[in-house]
Amino acid sequence: MSAAAARAMARADELAGCTERPGEITRRYGTPALIAARDLLEAWMLEAGMRTRVDRAGNLIGTLGAGDRPGILIGSHFDTVVDAGRYDGTLGILLGIGCGEELAGAEPAHDLTVVAFCDEEGARFPTDYFGSRAFLGRPLPDVAMTDAEGATLASAIELAGNGAAEPGSGLPASAVAYLEAHIEQGPVLEAAGHPLGIVTSITGGAKLMVALRGTAGHAGTVPMGLRRDAFSAAAEIALAAEALARDDGEAVATVGQVAVSPGAANVIPGRAAISIDLRHQDDDRRAGLLARVRQMIAEVADRRGVDAAVEVIHDERSVRCDPALGERMRAAARAIGLDPPSLPSGAGHDAVILSDHVPVAMLFVRCAGGISHNPAESVTTADVAAALAVLTAVVGGE
Ligand code: GLV
Ligand code: MN
Ligand code: MN
Repeated sequence: MSAAAARAMARADELAGCTERPGEITRRYGTPALIAARDLLEAWMLEAGMRTRVDRAGNLIGTLGAGDRPGILIGSHFDTVVDAGRYDGTLGILLGIGCGEELAGAEPAHDLTVVAFCDEEGARFPTDYFGSRAFLGRPLPDVAMTDAEGATLASAIELAGNGAAEPGSGLPASAVAYLEAHIEQGPVLEAAGHPLGIVTSITGGAKLMVALRGTAGHAGTVPMGLRRDAFSAAAEIALAAEALARDDGEAVATVGQVAVSPGAANVIPGRAAISIDLRHQDDDRRAGLLARVRQMIAEVADRRGVDAAVEVIHDERSVRCDPALGERMRAAARAIGLDPPSLPSGAGHDAVILSDHVPVAMLFVRCAGGISHNPAESVTTADVAAALAVLTAVVGGE
């Protein structure tokens, strides 16, 4: 198992070389870097004896088994945020492939399908779990949507997808479970001294794009009281969203994208756009927070005399992981001397989308300092070996 874990770690390093920008790991949907990573994953799947295919969106699917046994899917995503770490998403796929290698030649109780999803992060287009939705045969989003450079989603699908219309779901009829192993992306396991954790639920989240339009003007001549400064409005909205999340006590709110136009030191900003990411484990409280944020945006815009257009990119419910599957993973962990705690996921995962169709479970792997969405992401080979042992036991056993 530790040889397979060491192989997964070496592969994560190799995948880190598939990047749009040298010196960082940036692998957004529909880019040559994404295709290069997928080619590597496919080669490793083939080495593991899997049959492979790419679907209309660009997801890579590897299958082991004749389809006559109950099927377990193991998956995660191979796109990244900008300047990412090397384990978010990719580790889950590499563990799936490792599981296939461990089970090759054996008589596992389940057929195994490893799914490498092509777009979970939505880092290039304002998409929402595009890869896993397309895998399930859901309608494509608006393919005329554009990235920051004006390229369309249609052109990205043309590069990444298999070119087929391919309606229908890629979920095998025999599927009984979807498992996703993922770095924790938080500090809980490390603080408690546990290599692995069993995920109880995945937080719900909403993402808004807020476009503000004021009046561009001369920074030296327009008195403060007569300005319609779009960026000042955006800044006030960002701080007010933060305050609303703090008031809730359990919500989190993040403004991670800011664009200001025309973007000159001596020009009052005429336009500004920000993203707002809101998350809460409790769906009713998330809905209440979203309503308060929308109202706050309208009030700030009104008071400052700017126009505000709000687009809700997604508003996803919380998902409960399957307790029985979680217990199977816990039993497998106990068999190797671990006692994994249960914990919720504050990050979104492809399991959210799969959960509409099949029971899902998630296994968290401890990561150093809880750091993620950051080049400093780090896991140990020993923890990866433990995760691989758990997944292999669940797929291999009854
Ligand atoms: C996925 O990385 C998320 O934003 O939770
Ligand atoms: Mn991520
Ligand atoms: Mn992820």
